[in-house]
Amino acid sequence: MGSLVVFLWSFLSISAVGICSNYYQDFDISWGQGRANILDGGELLTLSLDNYSGSGFQSKNHYMFGIIDMQLKLVPGNSAGTVTAFYLSSGGVNHDEIDFEFLGNTSGEPYTVHTNVYTQGKGDREQQFRLWFDPTADFHSYSILWNPQTIIFSVDNTPLREFKNMENNGVPFPNTQPMKLYSSIWNADEWATRGGLIKTDWTQAPFTASYRNFHADACVVSSAAATACGASSDQEDRPWLSQKLDPNGEERLKWVQKTHMVYDYCTDGKRFPQGFPPECSSDQM
Ligand SMILES: *[C@@H]1O[C@H](CO)[C@@H](O)[C@H](O)[C@H]1NC(C)=O
Ligand SMILES: *[C@@H]1O[C@H](CO)[C@@H](O)[C@H](O)[C@H]1NC(C)=O
Repeated sequence: MGSLVVFLWSFLSISAVGICSNYYQDFDISWGQGRANILDGGELLTLSLDNYSGSGFQSKNHYMFGIIDMQLKLVPGNSAGTVTAFYLSSGGVNHDEIDFEFLGNTSGEPYTVHTNVYTQGKGDREQQFRLWFDPTADFHSYSILWNPQTIIFSVDNTPLREFKNMENNGVPFPNTQPMKLYSSIWNADEWATRGGLIKTDWTQAPFTASYRNFHADACVVSSAAATACGASSDQEDRPWLSQKLDPNGEERLKWVQKTHMVYDYCTDGKRFPQGFPPECSSDQM
C-alpha cells in the first residue's frame, strides 16, 4: 500500500514536470494590488493581509472538469483570525462552488481545513479536518478532482473528502457551469477562530500565504457557456474524466475521515431537525 502511494505520487510529479505553470500567464490579481505579488519570474505568488485589507487572485480560464492542483504554504506563527481560501466557483445566481478554506490559529495550534460544496446555489455541506503535518512549515499540495461522477478533495495525494454525483437521488451535481479558480486571504476574526473568541493580532501583520506549482489538467472553456467536455470520445485524452478512488484511495479516505475529521454536517443533527440532506444517507461517507 505504501509503495503504491509512492508510485502514484512520483507518477503525478513527473507528469507535472515540464508543464511549467506561470502565475503571470494563468492568473489575474483580482484585488489587493500591492498585497498580492508574483515573484521568481512567475513561479511564486504571495497573498498578504494587513490591517488595511486582504488580497486575491483568479484564473484567467474557466474550467469544466479537471484536476486542479496547487501547492500552498500557509501563514506561519499566530495566524488566528485569518482565512486563506482556494476554491473553484462558477459565480452567477445559482452558483456551483468547491471550497477549500484554511482557518488560521494561534501559534502552535492546528489550522482547520474547512471544505464545502455548493450546487445550484446551495451549500451547507461543511466538513472540517485537521492536517497530519504543519501546513505553515513547507509547501503541500492541495487538489480538487472534478469530473462528471465525483468531486475529490486531496492533500498531498491523500483524499480528504468525496462528493459523488447523486443526481439519481435528487442531489444536484455541478456539471453544467464552468468554474474559475480563486484564491484569497482575508480577516474573519468575527467567526473564524473558536467562533470569534480569538481576534487577529495586527502586531503580527502582514500575514502572508505563498503559492507555487499550479497545475490544471482540465477542459479549458473560453466562456461561461458549458461545452461538450465530458463526451465519451474525450475519455482517452482525459483520463481524469473517469478517474475515481482505487481501493487504496478508499482506504486512505476512510482513515482521514475517521482520524482527522473534526466536523461533519451529516452528523450534526441539531442543524437538520427536519432530517439530514439526501446525500448524507447514501454511500457518500
Ligand atoms: C496599520 O499598520 C501600520 C503599520 O504597522 C500602522 O502604521 C497603522 O497605524 C495601522 N493602522 C491601523 C488602522 O491600525
Ligand atoms: C485552534 O486550536 C484549538 C486548540 O487545539 C482548536 O480547538 C481549534 O479548533 C483550532 N482551530 C481554529 C480555527 O480555531
